Amino acid sequence: MSEFFPIQGFDHLEFYVGNAKQAAQFYEHNLGFANTAYRGLETGYRKTASYLMEQGDIRLLFSTALSPDNTIAQSVLQHGDGVAVIALEVPNAEFAYREATRRGAIGAIPPTTEQDQQGIFRYAAIHAYGEILIKFVERTNYQGVFAPGFQLRDKISDRGVGLTHIDHVVGNVELGAMDIWAEFFAQTMDFQLLVHFDEGTIATEYSALMSKVMQDSTGKIKLPINEPAAGQGKSQIQEYLDYNCGAGIQHVALATKNIIQTVSQLRDSGVKFLAIPSSYYENLEARVGKINESIAKLAELGILVDRDRDGYLLQIFTQPVEDRPTLFFEIIQRCGSQGFGEGNFKALFEAIEREQIRRGNL
Ligand code: FE2
Repeated sequence: MSEFFPIQGFDHLEFYVGNAKQAAQFYEHNLGFANTAYRGLETGYRKTASYLMEQGDIRLLFSTALSPDNTIAQSVLQHGDGVAVIALEVPNAEFAYREATRRGAIGAIPPTTEQDQQGIFRYAAIHAYGEILIKFVERTNYQGVFAPGFQLRDKISDRGVGLTHIDHVVGNVELGAMDIWAEFFAQTMDFQLLVHFDEGTIATEYSALMSKVMQDSTGKIKLPINEPAAGQGKSQIQEYLDYNCGAGIQHVALATKNIIQTVSQLRDSGVKFLAIPSSYYENLEARVGKINESIAKLAELGILVDRDRDGYLLQIFTQPVEDRPTLFFEIIQRCGSQGFGEGNFKALFEAIEREQIRRGNL
């Protein structure tokens, strides 16, 4: 662990949404999450309503404003529904805030302590790209349900679809801003550059993007940062920036140990994925070598495969989960490979471009 910036892992991701009650239903019935905690009018909290959704070690918090002057209402008006806060669990929230701001981060929430019968809960937050906050959560001395004010709902159920943890969280930033934000994570939170994809790696006939993957010193927190690159058409990153009204979270990758089972269940419950042409599966074994899964089954489900020197990975991407073409999810199963599916970038981006054409945005 980094000496000046220890991080224990992702704590949760908070989504600002227009209707958290309905979002919670989608994540429960379509993605297999359980609503484990709630805070709102019924628990005596009058500003917002929040639903904590859990599956495996993944915690997603869906919050909605109860009045138009609330920050969440402003954010939803501007950006639509999406991830607004990346919360990291740290041993000492005040220390994390002081270190990050001393090294150039702009403070958003100064160190704050909340206490109830269950103990002491501390947090703080800094600004990152767009209007994204990085929140530092210290729950070592807190035994309660998620955070003060929250009341217990259901237990994590066996209705899950096998999602285990957050693998990575990707941000899209404006042209020319990727290096600035990569440097921001390195400077303020001791992240390192894991890999850099230039426009040569990620280009199709129409559009291109560049990406730098930043990770914390333990390797648990991976935050790739994309920026658009010039091409014949509009980069999918530029399409995102146009509809999100600025930088923000493009996709969240959720890990599973059995992607075939997970994706089968997700498809049965109505989750829509990017369509991959059947030609992708011709000669797949020649491209990626022997894998344990049946290629016919992968083709049926639209799952992509990539291999590097450490092993292989299986991945699939949903359609955007809101009307604006902004946030989507990736489902990933790692079988040795620690990459991001570089070998699939071309096939993937061509699939995204077919969707962009349908939206009139290429
Ligand atoms: Fe990804």
